[in-house]
Amino acid sequence: MVIPFALPFIDDEVVREVTDALTGTGWLTTGPKVRQLEEEVVKLCGAPAALCVNSWTSGAMLALRWYDVGPGDEVIIPAYTYSATALCALNIGAKVVMVDVGDDFNILPERIAAAITPRTKAVLPVDIGGWPCDYDAIMQAVDSEAVRAVFQPAGDKQRLLGRPLVLADAAHSIGATYKGRPAGTLADITVFSFHSVKNVTTGEGGIVCLNLPDPFDNQAEYRFMKVFALNGQTKSAFEKNQPGAWRYDIIAQGLKVNMPDLCAAVGLAQIRRYATLLLPERKRIFERYNAAFANYDWAILPPFDNAERSSSYHLYPLRIKGFDESRRDEAIRIISEKGVGVNVHYIPMPMLTLFKDLGFQMADYPRTFDLYQNEISLPIYNGLTDEQVAYVVEAVVEGVRVVVGCRL
Ligand SMILES: Cc1ncc(COP(=O)(O)O)c(C=O)c1O
Repeated sequence: MVIPFALPFIDDEVVREVTDALTGTGWLTTGPKVRQLEEEVVKLCGAPAALCVNSWTSGAMLALRWYDVGPGDEVIIPAYTYSATALCALNIGAKVVMVDVGDDFNILPERIAAAITPRTKAVLPVDIGGWPCDYDAIMQAVDSEAVRAVFQPAGDKQRLLGRPLVLADAAHSIGATYKGRPAGTLADITVFSFHSVKNVTTGEGGIVCLNLPDPFDNQAEYRFMKVFALNGQTKSAFEKNQPGAWRYDIIAQGLKVNMPDLCAAVGLAQIRRYATLLLPERKRIFERYNAAFANYDWAILPPFDNAERSSSYHLYPLRIKGFDESRRDEAIRIISEKGVGVNVHYIPMPMLTLFKDLGFQMADYPRTFDLYQNEISLPIYNGLTDEQVAYVVEAVVEGVRVVVGCRL
C-alpha cells in the first residue's frame, strides 16, 4: 500500500467552482471568488476583516510592511517553525530574534517577555500543527506598561498601537480555538496559509485576518491593505474592467501579492464545508491515531484538545520516547519502505545553512532540539480511510520495534 504524506481535498464541488471561474464568471485574477472566500473566512473565524493573498509568506510580509517594520527592527519568533516565519522578517530587512519553545511545540510567553527590547516591533507566535499558542500570556508579555514605556514607534500605525504587533503565524490553525475564541481573533493580525498541504487550500495562497484593537478601524485598514497588496494601486483589474472605470492612482509603494480568482475557487468549495466535513474528518483520523498509539509506552502523543484549546488537527506530530536523531531517521527509513509518507516538523532553523550563517546555534535552543530529534509527522488528511490509518500505525509500530531491537 502506498500512502502519501499529504493530499489536497478535491471533489466534484471543487471542480464545479473552478469550472465556474473558467467558464462562468470567466474572470481569472482577483475578483468575485476572492471576495466570497474572504467573506467565508470572516464568517468562520469571526475576524472583522480578511484579505486574500498569494501565500502565507507574502501575507506576513505585507502585514509587517503595513506596520512599518524594516531595517533596525527586531521580530521575535520561535526556533521551532518553518523558515517562512523568519524569512518574512528577513526579507524586509528586519532582524530575527529566535526563542525556545515549550513541550507543546509552541513559543514560550516568558521567553518572549525576556527577548523584548526597545527595537522589538513584532512577535510571531506559531500554532504548530494547529495547536493554538497561549495568546493571553503572549498578549500580557507584549502589552505591559514596561514594554509600552520603552517601545520606540516609527510611523502612524506603531504610534497608534504603542507596542509590538502580535502577528500570529496560523499557517496551520484555521478552525482551532483558544478559550472559546477562534484562530483569527487571537492576535492583532493572523495569517492562515492556503498552501497545497494545508487544511484548506487554494494551491498556493493565504489570508490576512485583521483584529486590530481600538482605535484602529479594521475595515479601513482592510481597504488600505487591499490596495497595498496590489502594487499600491487604488483599483483592481476587476474594478477597472467596469465601463468608464479605467482611471486609477498608485498611493503607496506596495507589494504584488493578490490572490487569483482561479485559486480562490478551490478554497471556496472547501471552506463552505470546513466546519461540518473537513475539520471533523481530520479530528476523526487524529483520534484514531491517539487511540492506537495510547497502547504503546514509547509514544508521546501530540497536544490536541483540553478545556482551554482545540486543535485544527493539521499535523499528527508523534514523538518516540528516548529516540535520538539517528534512531528516528532509521525508523522513518523503515516506515517509508512500507510505502508510508511521513515527515519531520520541523528541522529547527538553527540547523539550516542560512540561519547557521547568520550566527544562530542549535545549542541555544535545547527544547526545540529535543522535540525535533524524536518527532515523526504522520499522514492526516481528508479521504484517508480507516484501513490506511491502521496500515500507517502498523508501519510506525514495526519501524520503532526494529529500531529498538537493533539498539542503534
Ligand atoms: C508554520 C508555517 N508558517 C508559514 C508557512 C508558509 O506558508 P506559505 O507556503 O503559504 O507561504 C508554512 C508553510 O508550510 C508553515 O508551515
